[in-house]
Amino acid sequence: MRVYMDGCFDLAHFGHANALRQARHIGEKEDFDDAFNAKDDFEDDCEDCEKKDGKNATTTTRTTTCELVVGIVSDAEIARCKGPPVVPEEERVKCVKAVKWVDDVITNVPYELTPEFVERLFSGTHVASRRFFCTSLLFSSLLFLSFLTLSRYVSLFTPADEYGIDCIVHGDDPCYLPDGTDAYAIPKKLGKYREIKRTEGVSTTDLVARLLEFADSSDGGKDTTKSSSDGNSKRHESRFCTTASRIAQFAAKVSYSKTSKIHTEDKQRKRKGKEEKRKNVNAKNNDTCCYVVGAFDVFNAGHVELLEECSVAADKVICAVIADEYLTSDQTNQPPPMLNQSERAMSAIACRHCDDVVVGAPARITDDICKTFNVTAVVFEDDASITAQDRKVCEKNGVEILSVREKHFSRKKITIAKRVQANRALFEARQKRKMASEAAYYEQKSFVAEE
Ligand code: CTP
Repeated sequence: MRVYMDGCFDLAHFGHANALRQARHIGEKEDFDDAFNAKDDFEDDCEDCEKKDGKNATTTTRTTTCELVVGIVSDAEIARCKGPPVVPEEERVKCVKAVKWVDDVITNVPYELTPEFVERLFSGTHVASRRFFCTSLLFSSLLFLSFLTLSRYVSLFTPADEYGIDCIVHGDDPCYLPDGTDAYAIPKKLGKYREIKRTEGVSTTDLVARLLEFADSSDGGKDTTKSSSDGNSKRHESRFCTTASRIAQFAAKVSYSKTSKIHTEDKQRKRKGKEEKRKNVNAKNNDTCCYVVGAFDVFNAGHVELLEECSVAADKVICAVIADEYLTSDQTNQPPPMLNQSERAMSAIACRHCDDVVVGAPARITDDICKTFNVTAVVFEDDASITAQDRKVCEKNGVEILSVREKHFSRKKITIAKRVQANRALFEARQKRKMASEAAYYEQKSFVAEE
């Protein structure tokens, strides 16, 4: 089963991550139904899987053949259909690929699901099957039986421009093209459309509003491009409810198919990194834990790059998302974080490069932390924040302080805020439109069950 979800994924947030999680869950559920024709047993089976996934499990876990393929709309298409994106395509791709439920991405997809593009999405499996079938007929029935087995992995034979998709998923918010027609009309007509519940309390629009606020507060109101009509200085309030079950869903172990492209590449990269490390005669042990301290406010491609590098350098990565109380204290002399600690933690939990997340960590490394997590290396999101006390604690506990510099992407939220500020007029116009449609969504919303 290959499930497709497309989108802009601008400022890729945990609402997008939850949409991707639900899309993959739909595929897993339908895959499981196909294989066992036992829909009602699925939830029980999942529970069994979770139990078996525990550290002391003696039985093997159920593997999945479901894959989630994500189509990422190009910058030009977003600008044409919605107004300019805040985050350029390369960074949006980096963020989406880091979401642990994603198996593959297709870049540069059209905003509109044209008949030609839909044809390419749904082709692949069938074309490959037909070709393979004809060849098989020339051989014995034994080969034909092998074909049946191999057809599970038929995506391996799929031509590069055909994707073998089985269904297309989108959130329950209406999605219209510039001409007012339904963007998902074709897959709906074909019976290949599935819907998931949109995550309430977070959106790109909401984050843009917070970024504009942050940009204004961090340049002391010197921004001359600020619209005078915007007299609303009230701090944006979070509407997201962090429930225990949402955290559990995000933290649950993900099972990957053998052909999952991103997972395979990621595994190879990490294995190579570890082999390199073990060649190093100074490597003290084979069970390294990297503890990464940071605010992780407005999770971005720079954060992904940081965590990815840590995951190559160590066997385990713990992302310590600093508690609000340490970031809002007067001593920091910084504006408060744009997202609260649970919101900031959700994005880190959804990231494939984190093995665990401390939700609301102290801002400093302590003896206790070193011992509790058996920390071997500490990384700070911002090297400038390392104190003499941090160095003393690390020295005492034999913990290395690693410096992971920004390579391709900035991890500073001010970089993103400046992009919004530079295009303030365009973003404000887009905000007006989007806020109206979001208000309409919240007005008409009723209960929709989640996947
Ligand atoms: N999505 C969601 N919950 C959110 C935001 C988005 O489930 N809070 C889903 C959308 O329904 C869509 C996918 O994420 O299926 C990608 O959304 P995207 O194209 O990036 O755009 P928007 O729906 O406009 O999301 P946002 O308002 O955050 O820009």
